[in-house]
Amino acid sequence: MKILVTGGAGYIGSHTCVELLNSGYDVIIVDNFSNSHPKVLNRIETITGKPFKFYHSDILNEKEMRFIFLNEQVDAVIHFAGLKAVGESVENPISYYHNNLMSTIVLLKLMKDFNVTNFVFSSSATVYGDQQTVPLKEKLPLQATNPYGRSKLMIEEMLGDVHISNPEMSIALLRYFNPIGAHESGLIGENPNGTPNNLVPYITQVAVGKLDYLKIFGADYSTLDGTGIRDYIHVVDLALGHIKALERNSQQNGIEAYNLGTGNGSSVLEMLNTFIQVIGRDIPYKIKDRRSGDIAVSYADPSKANQLLNWKASRDVLSMCEDSWRWQSMNPNGYEQSKNIEVSK
Ligand code: NAD
Ligand code: WQD
Repeated sequence: MKILVTGGAGYIGSHTCVELLNSGYDVIIVDNFSNSHPKVLNRIETITGKPFKFYHSDILNEKEMRFIFLNEQVDAVIHFAGLKAVGESVENPISYYHNNLMSTIVLLKLMKDFNVTNFVFSSSATVYGDQQTVPLKEKLPLQATNPYGRSKLMIEEMLGDVHISNPEMSIALLRYFNPIGAHESGLIGENPNGTPNNLVPYITQVAVGKLDYLKIFGADYSTLDGTGIRDYIHVVDLALGHIKALERNSQQNGIEAYNLGTGNGSSVLEMLNTFIQVIGRDIPYKIKDRRSGDIAVSYADPSKANQLLNWKASRDVLSMCEDSWRWQSMNPNGYEQSKNIEVSK
């Protein structure tokens, strides 16, 4: 089965390509490297020992994408490609709506033309907005609190309409909680551009000496230790969820949303302490004001994915932090000038 993976050079996409190749799928990656590095392709090949196809294209370029669909017998599409920084989306909403919506529209047009019906979409727990109750269930009314989240919500709604127009379609909306960790080899991982926005890459960059100290955004939430709680999920567990979604899509038409989370919440201080334990030394931090737009607590009810996809996250927070740290310490500058690793095609 041939899977077109858009954004396959990115953080979650690269880990998913590894799992797809290891499971015997044929993989075609399309990426424009707007938020990734070409070296990741060699790393995927090194980890899996399996060949795959790569097209350096922008999904917005319908002509180039049509060429790919003409050239390859695509059986299913996993659509990771998109812009994902919340703050940037507030500053530049048009580029977020343009890239995230139009890339999906181009893909859906081509899927219709080439009769491809299996679609797995990277949605986000951000579509729940700020809810009163946890754990978060798929049936909750959705709300967006920023342009990035709204682009995901709009795409989910668009996909609902597409399914109504063609009930033969099989669409999985995967709502990721907080992906962290890295492949256990330390060869691929999260490689943020500039200063990281997310907690875990920030902590590991402080630990590796690239940043001075962690700013904890608020210690006055009504949580056990006052800091924000999130459902961190290992990126490899997340990657495996995509394979389960592809399998279910192959067996059953329909459109379904699934929470991909562990169902457990961890606070910022708990995450920091786990890293201190893994690294074996202190990590400096300062308590700061709350970050605007943050919510106190978010964690998944993953039971729908457990039941319908036969998927369950199996890696705990300790192994997430160990793997994040292995990746960061082996690659202090991301894919640029990685330490002690020479990978050639
Ligand atoms: P990422 O930025 O590492 O990967 C996205 C990839 O898409 C990058 O390689 C980028 O170069 C590529 N890309 C972007 N626009 C493109 C275009 N127009 N044409 C071709 N390639 C393009 O991000 P990620 O963390 O791997 O996230 C993957 C998906 O999951 C995104 O859609 C994101 O919104 C979603 N998501 C991420 C998180 C998270 O915390 N990382 C959480 C929930 C949802
Ligand atoms: C986690 C916790 C912060 C950084 C974001 C997006 C969401 C999704 C995942 C794509 C919070 C605290 C953080 C720091 C801190 N992405 N924190 N100091 O905000 O849950 O989700 O990424 O869909 O849409 O909003 O993740 O890692 O930024 O924050 O104290 O330097 O860590 O306040 O409690 P978040 P995060």
